[in-house]
Amino acid sequence: MPNIQQLIAEMTLEEKASLCSGLNLWYTKPVERLGIPSIMVTDGPHGLRKQVEVNDMGGLSESYPATCFPTASALAATWDRELVQQVGIALGEECRQERVLVLLGPGANIKRSPLCGRNFEYFSEDPFLSGEIAKSHILGVQSQGVGTSLKHFATNNQEYRRMTVDAVIDTRALHEIYLAGFEIAVRETQPWTIMGAYNRLNGTYCCENPLLLNEILRKRWGFHGLVMTDWGAMNARVAALESGLELEMPGPADANDARIVEAVRSGELDIAVLDQAVERILEMVFKAQPVFAEDDRFDQDAHHALARRVAAEGSVLLKNAGEILPLEKTARIALLGSFAKQPRYQGAGSSLINPLRLDNLHDEMVKIAGSENIAYAPGYPGQGLIFDANLLNEAVQLAQTADIVVVHIGLPDSFEVEGMDRGHLKLPESHNRLVEAVCAIHDKVVVVLSNGSPVEMPWVDQVEAILEGYLGGQAGGGGLADVLYGLVNPSGKLAETFPLRLEDHPSHAYFPGGPKTVEYRESLFVGYRFFETVDKPVLFPFGHGLSYTTFAYEDLRLSHSTLTDQETLTVRLTVRNTGARAGKEVVQVYINPESPTAFRPKMELKGFEKVALQPGEAREVNITLGRRAFAHFSTALNDWQVEPGNYRILVGSSSREIHLEGTVQLTATQTPAPIPERDRVPAYVNFPSDARIARADFEALLGRPTPNNTISEREPATINTPLADLQHSFVARQLKKVVQKEIEAMSEDNPDSPNTLMITAMMLDAPLRTILMFGGDKLNQTMMDGLILMINRRFIKGLIKLVQGQKQLKS
Ligand code: BGC
Repeated sequence: MPNIQQLIAEMTLEEKASLCSGLNLWYTKPVERLGIPSIMVTDGPHGLRKQVEVNDMGGLSESYPATCFPTASALAATWDRELVQQVGIALGEECRQERVLVLLGPGANIKRSPLCGRNFEYFSEDPFLSGEIAKSHILGVQSQGVGTSLKHFATNNQEYRRMTVDAVIDTRALHEIYLAGFEIAVRETQPWTIMGAYNRLNGTYCCENPLLLNEILRKRWGFHGLVMTDWGAMNARVAALESGLELEMPGPADANDARIVEAVRSGELDIAVLDQAVERILEMVFKAQPVFAEDDRFDQDAHHALARRVAAEGSVLLKNAGEILPLEKTARIALLGSFAKQPRYQGAGSSLINPLRLDNLHDEMVKIAGSENIAYAPGYPGQGLIFDANLLNEAVQLAQTADIVVVHIGLPDSFEVEGMDRGHLKLPESHNRLVEAVCAIHDKVVVVLSNGSPVEMPWVDQVEAILEGYLGGQAGGGGLADVLYGLVNPSGKLAETFPLRLEDHPSHAYFPGGPKTVEYRESLFVGYRFFETVDKPVLFPFGHGLSYTTFAYEDLRLSHSTLTDQETLTVRLTVRNTGARAGKEVVQVYINPESPTAFRPKMELKGFEKVALQPGEAREVNITLGRRAFAHFSTALNDWQVEPGNYRILVGSSSREIHLEGTVQLTATQTPAPIPERDRVPAYVNFPSDARIARADFEALLGRPTPNNTISEREPATINTPLADLQHSFVARQLKKVVQKEIEAMSEDNPDSPNTLMITAMMLDAPLRTILMFGGDKLNQTMMDGLILMINRRFIKGLIKLVQGQKQLKS
């Protein structure tokens, strides 16, 4: 590594500022005079999306083929740290071959609502699990000398208005739920980079949020890497730099580079802040340099095989009545549903991989059981967006001749798209009708699901078995076939709750909010934390997943019965495979504070371990719980606090199946700090079973009034006004029309394609400032200022600016 201080000393102010934005969509800027190279960063997270055309600002053009691993939902459902690390290693190898120095992922945002359009790219509703899986992913990638970009930091829990919405969150939920997973990953792996989220958090954009970046990420957690924006997330360049964000992506952002220069010259920005940023950028650029060898070639077969293994391990056997699964190879199977031949295996958006290969369930089942045993009918047209009675009837007829019917359904591509949230949890009508029609004539129906996040299952009681395959990547078909035929014993567990109905979900009344703010009124009661606290029925609980064998949990031993807040507790138990097949079990440890003064959910996951056991084999599992496992975040101390008292230790195979229980008494070494009122607001101490929280109660928790969430007619447009909200004047309406026309032109070919849907949603949600980003050399800041003046009916002034801007462009 060259002497970075020396380099900084040799750089001009302009060179320093220019390093703070990218060269184009995917590269950082070089400074040739000083031998500073340009490096490539690219998406992520479950494969490499290296665009063929680097400058295609549409951002979703063709990319080089790469292994498409199962998406994050499936990775998390493995609950297997070691396996996820292997995926990370494989991703790192692909990065090396393609000369990519930073992989843009993993995403560790919490699944606050099952509706978030990007949930397939995120791990869990639980921060501990999310953090542990993110950690493994990062350790794997970075072991190859390639960096990661942990994203989207933070509270980017929805797609609706993601570029402007203000996430209004109380301090405890922020630390205990939305940051805790990031914290694990940052503290334990030091990702090379962090990607700042688009949205605002409690009033301030995440990319210029000093509390989030300087205070929490750097000072509290000790992060010493680089922070970059999400693509197009920059709002105020100088404020962002001062808050701890170094790199603006994509670039170039000439106007912002110039702003930095100006701010240093005018004394507004301390040069030391810029030097610090340049140092961090250079450290990343040079850290990335020495890793490539000419013969870096990854093994495509090995990666495909790994992808298949992960797809199988990330599949969750939700139901297996009468032990209908695994299938006998000789059973005559009617395989119904187009997904069996045209798999749904990944989500749409920036993570879309151009797969090297693509397996499907039909062909993989044929390979295992022979074509004479597998009869196929599509059952619904294409991905099932419309219903076709003929296809349904044909499928039902085929089912009549079979021993067992396997129906492959799930969510079409257009249901899970970056930039858009779902509006409901329903499967397409054509999928549900297929299952119901088959169940009416056959009593051995197995449903196989391909989807990135929970769905409602109106037919749950009519079918014998349900295998949730998530989005299994390019080898997903093989992974599912392996599980169906018992070549792999399923061991996946849900990393999220499947509610019975959307309306049951704690975030339902407050998601996705808008137009300006989204209030996280449910606070800590996210996912199973809510369902367990209020004891509400669910379709399938968090942590649930069946096996073809059975396990017994025995002999719980806690290392202490009384524990000071300085000691750690070891939870010891024995798991025994009591069935006839080898299998794996995920032992889950939850805590349940018995009578806390500060409000707490009834259960919180604090440890887990996946164990492989031969038939009859028993193993001891040891899980250590440190101080933090018992702590809550005190708003008074602005730090973690452990309340003395009894904590129950619950060991189980899901949040609803607890097999062993013990209690530990926590004592304090010092006089415990009093619990402030904000941490014990009665509405949260007795959290309501309908999750309805009055504004006044939420404000008591926040410690301030909730911000305004309405758009007034007279409110002037700013650089942050979303295009969808342009209504201020004739000019505003015209501009909106232009954008809508553009969208229509793009949609002509295929209005339902996920790409079209995504671009439509994103363009309308995008704030005016993004026009600058995509305006290329046809638009500059002065012209933009002019346009905004005109939108706000200041036509003459605006026009003058527009003309000035045009002149600047020409010169
Ligand atoms: C996404 C990021 C992605 C980036 C680059 C953004 O729209 O939010 O996750 O890494 O684009 O493609």
